[in-house]
Amino acid sequence: KLEKIWLTIGITMLFVFLAILGVSAFAMGVKPPSEHHHQLDPAKVQETAPFDNPGLHQIGDNEYEAVMTAFTFGYAPDKMEIPLGATVNFTVTSQDVVHGFAIPGTNVNMMIVPGEVSHVTHTFTKPGEYLILCNEYCGGAHEYMKTTITVR
Ligand code: CUA
Repeated sequence: KLEKIWLTIGITMLFVFLAILGVSAFAMGVKPPSEHHHQLDPAKVQETAPFDNPGLHQIGDNEYEAVMTAFTFGYAPDKMEIPLGATVNFTVTSQDVVHGFAIPGTNVNMMIVPGEVSHVTHTFTKPGEYLILCNEYCGGAHEYMKTTITVR
């Protein structure tokens, strides 16, 4: 009889242990997404900082933050001048659907997801006109979705 009681206790302990393992694995699995993707209401982008003030903002010695918004079918601001040699941290979100954000000839190539903020950094060491274009299909005028930034 005593053996049966100990066996029951042992099995119970095993189940408790497995339950704890399961719960902690579940808790780890539902952790919020990584820190550099802040949640944001796409419909309120224009009223939400920093996107209420798009454009190039100096944040350090030769370092700038370029706040930009992607929408169907373009980018805001539609023009930007970047000082030669500047390191630019692009901070980009979408006001509607998924767009692309690529600058051919550079390492800049991001997917812009509505509700998320994407970041990429590039140092512009050559003067000229740089194309920013959308490389995610986003509708009828997708292939015309582009803008130009000038480095001088
Ligand atoms: Cu936006 Cu394609």
